[in-house]
Amino acid sequence: MALQTSELRAPSAVAAVAYAAAATADSTTAIVHSAATATAGALIAESRRLAKLAQAVELGPLVAATAAGEAVSAVVDAPSLLKLIPVLRDAAQRKQALVLHVPVSSADDVSDVLAVRDAGCALLRSSSPQQAVDFALVASLAARRLAIPFVHCFPGAAGPVKVLAYAPFAEHVDVASYLDPAGAASEVTTAQLPAEAAHTAVAQAMALFGDHYAPVEYAGAPDAPVVYATFGTGPEPAGPTGLLQISLFRPLSPQALRAALPATAARIIALEQVTRQPTPWGPLLFDLAGALLPGDGAAQARPPILLDAVSTVAPAEFTAEQLARVTEHAKGLDSPAHFNPAEIAGIAEAAGAASVPLAGLSLEEQQQRVENIPYGQLLRELFGPRLHVANAAESQSIWGDARSSTTNPEFGFGRLAADERGRARLAQAVTAALRDVSVPLSKRLHAALNAWLGGKDSAGVATAELAAELGDLLAAERQAHPAIEAVHALRAHFARRSSWLVGADEWAYDIGSSGVHHAISSGLNVNMLVLDTATYPFVAEHKGAPRKKDIGLYAMNYGSTYVASVAVYASYTQVLQALLEADAFPGPAVVVAYLPHTNGVFSASYSPIEVLQQSKRAVDSGAWPLYRWDPTLAADQRFQLDSEKLRRSVEDFLRRDNALAAIGSAAPALGGIDSALETRARGDVDELVGGLRGPPLLVLFASDGGNGEEAARRVARQGRRRGMDVRCLGMDEFDVEELPFEKTVVAVVSTAGQGEVPTNGREFFKSLQSASVNLSETAYAVFGLGDSHYWPREEDAIFYNKPARDIDRRLAELSATRIVDVGLGDDQDADGWEAGFTDFEQLLWAALNIDVVGAAGQAEEDEEPKRTDEENKVISNYLRGTIAQAIADPSCGYVDEWDGKLLKFHGTYMQDDRDLRPERLARGEEKAFSFMIRVRLPGGIATPAQWLAMDRLADEHGNHTMKITTRQTFQLHGVLKRNLRETMRGINRGLMDTIAACGDVNRNVVASANPQQAHLQPEVAQLAADISSHLLPSTSAYHEIWLADELVAGGAEQTSSVEDHEPLYGAAYLPRKFKIAIAIPPENDVDVVAYDLGYIAILDSSGQSIVGYNIMIGGGMGMTHNNKKTYPRLASCLGYVPKDKAVIVAEKVMVVQRDHGDRTNRKHARLKYTVDDHGMDWWREQVEERLGFQLEAPRPYEFTRNGDRYGWVKTTRGLNNFTMFIQNGRVADLPGQPLKTALAEVARAHTGLFRLTCNGHLIIADVRDEDVGRMSELLAKHRLDNLDYSALRLHSMACVALPTCGLAMAESERYLPRLIDLLDAIIDEAGLRNDAIVIRMTGCPNGCARPYNAEIALVGKAPGTYNLYLGGSHSGERLNKIFRESVDEDQILQLLGPVIKQYALERNGGERFGDFVIRKGIVKATREGKDFHDV
Ligand SMILES: Cc1cc2nc3c(=O)[nH]c(=O)nc-3n(C[C@H](O)[C@H](O)[C@H](O)COP(=O)(O)O)c2cc1C
Ligand code: SF4
Repeated sequence: MALQTSELRAPSAVAAVAYAAAATADSTTAIVHSAATATAGALIAESRRLAKLAQAVELGPLVAATAAGEAVSAVVDAPSLLKLIPVLRDAAQRKQALVLHVPVSSADDVSDVLAVRDAGCALLRSSSPQQAVDFALVASLAARRLAIPFVHCFPGAAGPVKVLAYAPFAEHVDVASYLDPAGAASEVTTAQLPAEAAHTAVAQAMALFGDHYAPVEYAGAPDAPVVYATFGTGPEPAGPTGLLQISLFRPLSPQALRAALPATAARIIALEQVTRQPTPWGPLLFDLAGALLPGDGAAQARPPILLDAVSTVAPAEFTAEQLARVTEHAKGLDSPAHFNPAEIAGIAEAAGAASVPLAGLSLEEQQQRVENIPYGQLLRELFGPRLHVANAAESQSIWGDARSSTTNPEFGFGRLAADERGRARLAQAVTAALRDVSVPLSKRLHAALNAWLGGKDSAGVATAELAAELGDLLAAERQAHPAIEAVHALRAHFARRSSWLVGADEWAYDIGSSGVHHAISSGLNVNMLVLDTATYPFVAEHKGAPRKKDIGLYAMNYGSTYVASVAVYASYTQVLQALLEADAFPGPAVVVAYLPHTNGVFSASYSPIEVLQQSKRAVDSGAWPLYRWDPTLAADQRFQLDSEKLRRSVEDFLRRDNALAAIGSAAPALGGIDSALETRARGDVDELVGGLRGPPLLVLFASDGGNGEEAARRVARQGRRRGMDVRCLGMDEFDVEELPFEKTVVAVVSTAGQGEVPTNGREFFKSLQSASVNLSETAYAVFGLGDSHYWPREEDAIFYNKPARDIDRRLAELSATRIVDVGLGDDQDADGWEAGFTDFEQLLWAALNIDVVGAAGQAEEDEEPKRTDEENKVISNYLRGTIAQAIADPSCGYVDEWDGKLLKFHGTYMQDDRDLRPERLARGEEKAFSFMIRVRLPGGIATPAQWLAMDRLADEHGNHTMKITTRQTFQLHGVLKRNLRETMRGINRGLMDTIAACGDVNRNVVASANPQQAHLQPEVAQLAADISSHLLPSTSAYHEIWLADELVAGGAEQTSSVEDHEPLYGAAYLPRKFKIAIAIPPENDVDVVAYDLGYIAILDSSGQSIVGYNIMIGGGMGMTHNNKKTYPRLASCLGYVPKDKAVIVAEKVMVVQRDHGDRTNRKHARLKYTVDDHGMDWWREQVEERLGFQLEAPRPYEFTRNGDRYGWVKTTRGLNNFTMFIQNGRVADLPGQPLKTALAEVARAHTGLFRLTCNGHLIIADVRDEDVGRMSELLAKHRLDNLDYSALRLHSMACVALPTCGLAMAESERYLPRLIDLLDAIIDEAGLRNDAIVIRMTGCPNGCARPYNAEIALVGKAPGTYNLYLGGSHSGERLNKIFRESVDEDQILQLLGPVIKQYALERNGGERFGDFVIRKGIVKATREGKDFHDV
């Protein structure tokens, strides 16, 4: 049944509506709000956040109730609507039935109402008091059924309202069945047809009142060629015209419109009811166009309908004569219609509108006027006299030809910055005046100044009115005190202006040089409006190309800037909201605004329909997403996607995602299907996000050692800095079949093996060879890393950078477009691969023509400077970094690069099991990360308890093995990150530590362990311990991170209160590692000249005691294959010191290196290069100067050997030592050889000490006579006493290499035993089984097993391939020389066999193998490090 107004006895329409609103409520909150009394400025300022808006006085209850999720009905006035845009949007998103009733008379300008038309709400208008009440109910009911907000305009003036008692509406109509009609749900939720669903719901609600109403009604001639359209009441149609009266304006149903229009309608003339029209074409016109014009590619159902708009007021009051003029005017327009405001000037005048006719203005003035539309108008509308466009004065036309625009943000910014400074000065002056009680301020002035100071940043407080009032008061009182005068002088800054820089495309093209960066980075309250004028086809086609709106991304990346992307013709409401929010934002704000036009000039002659369509398509396609970004909001609210369609896609995706998750957990067997769906679903979002991000770039890499990956990540970083949407993946993580969908691909591939692809690119490479994909849509560039001398023979040149060249060729064969020629990085270049890479990068970015999105001056520098190792140390707060958090993070098994580097100083390295890498990569899993832990064990002395502690830790947390290292200590391998701390604590519980076992510090100090010199050993062992503790870093980080019961909150910053101090190292520690050894001639079991600093003990004439030491400096093994600037070097003698000066010498040598070592190039940072760079005399001077005394001349000594002496030895101290052979120092239980278990048993029985040797063997030391028998039995039981090996094996040594060492290029520890098996056959045949030849092997040229002073050395180059060196001295005092490069096992045997045999036959008596090969000219002797590479 219908309700009658008479039943309501309402004193006014407003009261009636308010009552009706309340009457629908079972659970509805009805709020009646008369005209807002708060200043518009305050509300606008507060409208930025919903929460804040709730505090706004009048709208507070409404906002609070809405925010609480209640169904709310309220009566508000039209101006308040603008402030309620965020509330409406929020309600729309939350599907909340909010209904706002707005009194609007037929003569009112409805701009404020129409301003909210894109807020996601329905717009309904009633035209009579009766309708007002009925439609109030319609709106309430439809809002609840559709779960969307409604704005209902009704005729009537706001005023006091009294809610009357009334029987519930539900008694009169069947509300329940309306709210839940059969099938309604499907109508309502049909996402594709929201307009139709809304239309149906409203029509059905109207039907509750009989057949009086329809959402869209037509009146007039049934065959009218011209139809007027109005929102609400219209003029009586006269003659052959009709009137389309639209009550439901949003959503506008195309079906209903078409159904209502007569088939004859050829023109529709929209009669707008707006005077303050910031756009040249009215909102009704646009909505009609949007509803009636076919979308992209849709079939045209009927001939095009011409759409014209008329800017005037009170459509209902059009006279017949005026209508006739308009009709006449419309007739003259060709299809498609062009709207020209000048042509309707007569009507505007006739209607008495405030708009100024353009007729009569000069062309330039007209253009100026038109060009100032629409964003400029909007700004003026919103901010009125507060608006301050700072760069306008310099611009002929800010809105004009964007590409030739001379607008200058820097100029404008300067003015704004000055303005801000002025305000700051004013605030200071006001504060000073208020604080100083001697300043005679009147009460009014005092109150006004206080009010201003309290709200100076709020536009609502710092109004022009208050400014004027303050100006007057100050003028009257300025003479009273200089402080008042000072405030008066700055009075121009009282009013808070809305400061804007307005610019166009070119700003976005070149952010860096435009000054936009300055504005953003200034942090000042500066707003920028940047127009983008590209037309839709351009935006769509260039979705993958550099886009101007990257300025928005750039600003977002900046983190502290408000950013919005808007399009006035796509969502007018969203523009308003964005501009209001930008103004209220207390820092820099950037609004990127879409304004499509052709030929670079925005012109009135440009069809409104085209602009509308352009905007719609750009927004709907995602090419121009609408969004707002407020960095001050909570993380999940910061980014608001306002594009309706995109938002729906995201919602759809999320729904699917949830569904997938549900299916996935319920039925894991569906995993495969799920992931396919998921991939597709994700594609939607990727596309969306891609649309927001910028042109896509895929960077693929294949790299074994990390160089290639580093290069790839640099390309990726650069891409991102250019605003590109970058993915960077290992090649095998990417499916070749997906390549056709990639627009731009950069492949970075290193060369492994013999011209092979690194492990993580092999599958990709294979698939690429056999793929039959068409890559005509894909552009690509390839960069290769290789070594032109890796395979030195000429015929092997084909292996140089082979994978890169192969991939480049194959991509071209598959029709991909080469962006630049394949780039090649060569290790042989002085700057390594980086040289080629720099060229490649430059060409790549130039060819892609994508500029850096960055700051002027700093941007170029393409490469974000990577943190250096030096910086890492310095900023680490004495080795803390973020280690504490990293090891506490259970989500991954690794730490980042920089914590990884710091961890070394704590004695641990991150590694991964390289045996498992390929499978793990193939499964997309994290590498099998684990940690190696190295103990600091000066002199290599451990108690049985310590041995057992390490043994237990190896089982509990390690890989069940221990390594006796070549520097006399224990290493555990395979410790997982989560066990790292517990393992460290275990080591410390065993009274050992790992401080400085690795890293750029003094490492473990080694000392001779030769039992035959047992009487001298305690002294050198003590010296090792003394030096070690003297040079120990003093940071408390180690204790704090590993041992403190409470983990520190961590981090360099947070713990900066810790006052650490490194008296010897300083914050940057040393340029590189620093190694010290002490030897007692004639035994050189420590290889004393292989280290940075060596002590050679000088004995007294009796040979029984040490008097002092020869100091050796500048030894070191590491080098890089083929890089002649790197080489091994043996230490040179600096002089002699008495033994009481030994420790201080260590300090001074280290300090010279600390101060003069090369900190710019880690490959040149070891002390050996500092020695060669400066010379020994310089070094002596430096050290002596610091010592304060002179070193004595070196004393004579002689070394005879550098191996260990095996077996039992009774020392002069009466104790017994057994030196046992442990192959390559690996203490492990192997089938049939339970070495680790056996040694644990020995440790449990042992009462003496363990001595670890620098050759990786073990001395059971200090066995009392009475224990020898028992110990011998134990050793025999486990065959630990077996020394029945060839002397070659007993003098062999290998580094760890694969699988744990990240640098290994070839096997070492796992391979050398087998090679020696094969060599033993040759040795045996040659009769040399008992002739010691020192043979060493390493997996890479870093030289951990000191290969370069061995008589035979094999240094890994590639899997199964080694460089073979010969000619080191048996005592370790001469470097060897390359004999053959890149040899495999067969070649090794073929090469060594004859030499060994020759040695057996032709050696002189006692001649060592190393000396023999030199005497025979098999290799040249290496005299010093610098000639190591000379052959
Ligand atoms: C085991 C191994 C084999 C190599 N083989 C070649 C080769 O055949 N051709 C080539 O040009 N470079 C070769 N190189 C040089 C590497 O490609 C070059 O050092 C590159 O920078 C390594 O990059 P990555 O760290 O990404 O693996 C080889 C390097 C290694 C370690
Ligand atoms: S020499 Fe090379 S491969 Fe061997 S452990 Fe040292 S770094 Fe690793």
